[in-house]
Amino acid sequence: MVKTRELIEKAKKYFPGGVNSPVRSFRAVGMKPIFVKSGKGSKICTNDGKKYIDYCMSWGTLMFGHSDNEILKAVRKQLALGTSYGFTNIFETELAEKICNAIPSMEMIRFVNSGTEATTSAVRLAFRYTGRSKILKFTGCYHGASELFFDRKNYFEIPYNDLSSASSVIKKHYKEIACVIVEPIAGNMGVILPEKDFLAGLRVICDKYKIILIFDEVINGFRITFGSAQSFFRVKPDLTCLGKIIGGGFPVGAFGGKKEIMKKIAPSGNVYQAGTFSGNPITMVAGITTIKKLQITTEGSPCGTDYKLINDRTKCLCNSIKNEAKKNNVDIVINQIGSMFSLFFTKERVINYASAKRQDVKKFKRFYSLIFKQGILFSPSSFESNFISFAHTDKDIEKTVSEVSHIFGRL
Ligand SMILES: Cc1ncc(COP(=O)(O)O)c(C=O)c1O
Repeated sequence: MVKTRELIEKAKKYFPGGVNSPVRSFRAVGMKPIFVKSGKGSKICTNDGKKYIDYCMSWGTLMFGHSDNEILKAVRKQLALGTSYGFTNIFETELAEKICNAIPSMEMIRFVNSGTEATTSAVRLAFRYTGRSKILKFTGCYHGASELFFDRKNYFEIPYNDLSSASSVIKKHYKEIACVIVEPIAGNMGVILPEKDFLAGLRVICDKYKIILIFDEVINGFRITFGSAQSFFRVKPDLTCLGKIIGGGFPVGAFGGKKEIMKKIAPSGNVYQAGTFSGNPITMVAGITTIKKLQITTEGSPCGTDYKLINDRTKCLCNSIKNEAKKNNVDIVINQIGSMFSLFFTKERVINYASAKRQDVKKFKRFYSLIFKQGILFSPSSFESNFISFAHTDKDIEKTVSEVSHIFGRL
């Protein structure tokens, strides 16, 4: 059996911190990285022979769990025909049609290879379209690892759910602000729901000052319902960014929106954006299969799935965890919507980054290491979301609740 310690030491020789993405280091929970060997359904297995019920699901990517048979079958068929052409293929149009039908605000779309590429390209497009060069963003929302979102000279930042700050900053700086970018349901400071009128209020202010409203639905897209968060909250952005789910487990990103804005992208316009792997046939085929499977049964799709099933299962898990917390006098707040949820060890409502930061992180770490030992893999940070897939079973939920119950008794 391979020793994880040895794998970590070797990886450290080649990768900064031993990983290719920081959160995989497990530093936020005071632990060491895991090395995943395989995944099937709701479970993953590590190189040191351990098995976990996975609630991270590749950070919200895998709606049908690991190694879904239908996605694998479609991908296998395409693999035999070529893996990357660098030219246009029919699957790009098919997936675009499915996405644009599901999310009508996306009149035109461009596929890219990651969520970061999608948000970065959408913001660049907003800069060029408006002739302004600043972003208004919200503390605790994450839009990818790009200097656009890290260098303070590029943005104004205000608390999530704070419509009055948005209004006053925009009133003062609207001549500089090209776009407001927001996660309609925040997923990168734990799950945080938009307060009533927050998103609709942003729409009104953006219209008033001719600012482009960008919904970063990289996590939200196709997550809680087929039309994504914007259909759930009935607010139409100008541009939408997608990633994760639409690639069916392969690297992907997309941005799209109003035709009038999207036409500025090269070659129809002069905002240059390009990618060797964009619209890659393997990703497109996996994405098409995923979206087909997600199309709700009421729309008559032959293999359609009902979101209610996983949304109810998630609610059931969260309610059971809340009951166990109550029985054991553990202060906990669970934010849940659809099949995404987060546990915060706190008494107060978590509505923005400041309130998320007031959770008891030490308690989370203790909880995390104990539940991990019992074969339950939540996302390894108290500022991340957890996800349930269609592959999670009632048995998974029961096992999780039972382990949570034992651990709450010892916290
Ligand atoms: C809301 C949001 N936007 C953008 C990104 C960046 O996506 P990627 O990691 O595919 O570059 C993420 C990643 O988790 C995300 O959660």
